[in-house]
Amino acid sequence: MELGISGKTALVWGGSRGLGKAAALQLTREGVQVYLLGRTEESLASAARDIGREAGVEPAFIVADMTREADRASVVASVAAPDILINNADGPVPGDFRSWRREDWLDALDAMMLGPIDMIRRVVDGMAEREFGRIINITSRSVKTPQLELGLSNGARSGLTGFVAGLARTVSHRNVTINNILPGVFDTDGQRRHVAEMARQSGRPFEEVWQARVANSTARRFGRAEEFGALAAFLCSQHAGYMTGQNLLIDGGSYPGTF
Ligand SMILES: NC(=O)c1ccc[n+]([C@@H]2O[C@H](COP(=O)([O-])OP(=O)(O)OC[C@H]3O[C@@H](n4cnc5c(N)ncnc54)[C@H](OP(=O)(O)O)[C@@H]3O)[C@@H](O)[C@H]2O)c1
Repeated sequence: MELGISGKTALVWGGSRGLGKAAALQLTREGVQVYLLGRTEESLASAARDIGREAGVEPAFIVADMTREADRASVVASVAAPDILINNADGPVPGDFRSWRREDWLDALDAMMLGPIDMIRRVVDGMAEREFGRIINITSRSVKTPQLELGLSNGARSGLTGFVAGLARTVSHRNVTINNILPGVFDTDGQRRHVAEMARQSGRPFEEVWQARVANSTARRFGRAEEFGALAAFLCSQHAGYMTGQNLLIDGGSYPGTF
C-alpha cells in the first residue's frame, strides 16, 4: 500500500533504538524526512547509518532529551513545520511504590506525560493550519492492564492518555490525528533492561524471567520491532486520517478483555 506521506517531515523521539527506530525505518522507507531524537549522539549516528543501509536514505538526527524543556524547544526551532511527531522515551524502572518519592514521580511525569504533552503543544497548531498532522504517543499495555511493578508507568501514561483523549477531538477536523500505541512485550534493548532489573530484584536468573514472559504471552513470543514500525507508519499515513483518539494495543492478543 502506498502510504502517501513521501516528502513529509517527522520527529521521532527515541529513534535510535527499539520501537522508535523501527518506526523511523518504516517512515524513511516511505520517503519521509525523518529526524531521530535521543540523548546519545553515538547511538543516533549508528541508528542513522543502519536505517540508511536498509532504506537507502540516512535520516537526520538531533541530540535531545525529552525531559528537558530547552531540548524540546531547540528541536522544534531546528525543524520547521513537522508533519509527524512520535513521542517516546524510556519507560520507568520497576519497583515498589513505597520507595518512590516525589522526585521519582516528577521524572516519570516528565518522560511519559509532561514532555510529550509539551511536544504536542509545540507542533499541533502548525499541523492544523497546514491540514495534515499525525501524532503518535508510544505508551504501554500498562495503560489498560496495570503492571504492579510499573506503577510509575501506570500512573504517568494514564495521565497522557486522558489528556490526549480530549485534545484529539479538537483537531480531527483539520486532518490532525493523535493516537497512542500500546506495545505488549517486544524484544528490544528496553525490554532486556526491564527484565534484567526484574531478575535483579527477584534474585532469579535473567533467562528464567525472559522465558517466563514468553510462556505467559498468548502468542508465545515477543513482538518484533518491525511489526510495531509497520503499525506506526500506517497510523502516520494519508489513509489513517479518520482514526484518532485511539489506544491501539499491539500485544499478540495478550490483553484478555473483549473490548
Ligand atoms: N519493548 C517493550 O516490550 C515495551 C513494552 C511496553 C512499553 N514499552 C515502552 O515503549 C517505549 C520504547 O521502548 P523500547 O523497548 O523501544 O526502548 P529502548 O529500546 O530502550 O529504546 C528507547 C529509545 O528512547 C531513547 N530515549 C530514552 N529516554 C529518552 C529521553 N529522555 N529523551 C530522548 N530519548 C530518550 C533511547 O535513546 P537514549 O537512551 O540514547 O536517549 C532509545 O532511542 C518505552 O517507553 C517503553 O517503556 C516498551
